[in-house]
Amino acid sequence: MAHKAGFVLWFTGLSGAGKTTLGIALEKRLLTKNLRVQRLDGDIVRKSLTKDLGFTVEDRKKNIERITFVTQLLAKHGVATLVSFISPFIDVRENAKKAVEEVDGKFIEVFVKASVDECIKRDTKGLYKKAIAGEIDNFTGISHPYEDPPNPDIICDTEHERIEQSVEKIMKYLIENKII
Ligand code: ADX
Repeated sequence: MAHKAGFVLWFTGLSGAGKTTLGIALEKRLLTKNLRVQRLDGDIVRKSLTKDLGFTVEDRKKNIERITFVTQLLAKHGVATLVSFISPFIDVRENAKKAVEEVDGKFIEVFVKASVDECIKRDTKGLYKKAIAGEIDNFTGISHPYEDPPNPDIICDTEHERIEQSVEKIMKYLIENKII
């Protein structure tokens, strides 16, 4: 019997842009479709699998490499995998896409878009304030780069659309492309 690989929604964007919120909302929706779903989220994974890593370019690349490895395994076994990491570099996101496609999975890059100014305003974790004050180094958007995806499959502009609209947009994409 042919093995049906899973799909990956890869949420990338600044801290506070809404990657986790979207991942959780999508997980709820996809579970109603009887799919096996797994979420991988920076805030959780960095307390376990990648707890030895910091936020230098090198460490962020290692972080995403390990996540890519897990994502590939999940995709290979048909799991709908929702990945929420800043993943600020184009090359590591491209590697993730390659790894998923190698096992016949579908890789959907979702750019969770919010400006640095908006994220500073939200500052739900109070980290931007600290980064601006120089209390945290290498903070994405303040003292460390974020490379916008040049060609994302989906853009969720969380500054101008509500979470429900973003969820609908992603669901529509999955249905129209016969992914679910
Ligand atoms: S990534 O760049 O390696 O993909 P990841 O998504 O795992 O980052 O972790 C980002 C989360 O770590 C942020 O949402 C924030 O809560 C926290 N964090 C702590 N220090 C930093 C930092 N210097 N830059 C960005 N996020 C940080």
